[in-house]
This record gives sequence, structure tokens and C-alpha cells, in this order.
Amino acid sequence: MLKLSLLTGGLLAASSLVATSVHAAEVSGEMLAQTCSGCHGTFGKIKNSAFMPLAGMNANTFVNTMKEFASGARPSTLMSSLAKGFTDDELKRMADYFAAQKL
Ligand code: HEC
Repeated sequence: MLKLSLLTGGLLAASSLVATSVHAAEVSGEMLAQTCSGCHGTFGKIKNSAFMPLAGMNANTFVNTMKEFASGARPSTLMSSLAKGFTDDELKRMADYFAAQKL
């Protein structure tokens, strides 16, 4: 058991190291956008009216929409909790990424 907890401790330490270095290198808009692909499609490309595509969305519209979701100005069960998880900077990076995708 002692060995196991040492091992887990080591893994935890290693994974927090990785997390720190990823953060230092700045998480790209593309990486952030991976979180959305389950519903909005890979690269934000999906042809489905319920899950609208994010590809090609105007960057300002994107940021404003995400802030409306986060503040509750635009009610959504799914998007409001998701939208709260990003900093302004991360929203901007995702916005630029999606805006650059061609539908
Ligand atoms: C669990 C499914 C799901 C995930 C994951 C998800 N979304 Fe959504 N998203 C939705 C649904 C459903 C809508 C429809 C609008 C509503 O609920 O008001 C939506 C709407 C949106 C809209 C508004 C689009 C428009 O044309 O008005 C934006 C912007 C958006 N999502 C961004 C994101 C981003 C960015 C991520 C990843 C961080 C993400 N979504 C992840 C389900 C999801």
C-alpha cells in the first residue's frame, strides 16, 4: 500500500508538472476547441440545426455569445455551465480559431 501511494503521489506530481508546462506554453485555441467537438463537430463543422456549427463564426459574435451564456443573458442548459469555464483570453483564442475555419 505504501508503494502504491508513493506511485500515485509520483503520478500526481508528474501530471501537475505537465499541466504547468502546458499552461506556460499557452493552451491554443485549437486545443480549447477540442472540448466542443463532441457537440459542435470536429473543427466546429457540423451540419445539424440543433448543434449549430461554430466554424466561420465571427470572432466578436462568438465572444459575446459565450459571455451571454456565462452570464445567463442567453439561457442555455448546456452552454451556460460550459461557457463559465474560460477566461476572456481563452475565449478570444477560441474565437480566432473558429473564425479561421471554413465551413
Ligand atoms: C454537450 C453539448 C455541447 C458542448 C460540449 C458544447 N456545446 Fe455549444 N451549444 C450546444 C447547444 C445544444 C447549443 C444550442 C444553443 C442553446 O442551447 O441555446 C449550443 C450553442 C453554442 C453557441 C451559439 C451558436 C449560435 O450560432 O448562436 C456557441 C457560440 C457555442 N455553443 C460554443 C461552444 C463552445 C466554444 C464549446 C466548447 C467550449 C461548446 N459550445 C461546447 C451544445 C454544446
